Amino acid sequence: MSESLALPTDSVDKSRRDWIAITCGAGAVAGVATAVPFVESFAPSERAKAAGAPVDVDISDIKPGELKTVEWRGQPVWIIRRTPEMIAGLAKDEAQLADPESRRNADDLTPPYARNRDRSIKPEVFVAVGICTHLGCSPNARFATGAQPSLPEDWPGGFLCPCHGSTFDLAGRVFKNKPAPDNLRVPPHRYLADNKLRIGEDQKA
Ligand code: FES
Repeated sequence: MSESLALPTDSVDKSRRDWIAITCGAGAVAGVATAVPFVESFAPSERAKAAGAPVDVDISDIKPGELKTVEWRGQPVWIIRRTPEMIAGLAKDEAQLADPESRRNADDLTPPYARNRDRSIKPEVFVAVGICTHLGCSPNARFATGAQPSLPEDWPGGFLCPCHGSTFDLAGRVFKNKPAPDNLRVPPHRYLADNKLRIGEDQKA
């Protein structure tokens, strides 16, 4: 009579449980071991940042009436803290604007949360790509109102492109009869905190 090699059922179950436990344990360790580089691979490298990863900006140091420039995707992005007077002025210049309601190329130029007169999430903070929509020069900030070289007597404050004279108001809206066809682009952005902006990610609805 041959000797049975079968183990009692309880022993089989216990061995199996041990094996499963060891396998799962090993798998878990391997999982941890591989999880770190996997997660790290999602952290944006310097190259990825240059290619388009979001940029976080502390805006607490921008005083009313001032502009801060940061770089995102190799482009200058302006952040302007508008004064109450600047915001009020946006309602007055609309008859002179080519696209006061930012309807042209809205999907490309004006995110849904900026489709308002201020073209911003909060009226006091305006964010725009500082590149002229004509041929790509960078306009100059000309915030002082009134007559001055290269600008009309009733200049409400805004931006002047030095290349071919396009002008934009303080919401980046282009004035009529200028070479630039469109308003300045408002990039995707959202607030991480009251004084912290993330450029390159959209505000959730
Ligand atoms: S590039 Fe700005 S007006 Fe031509």
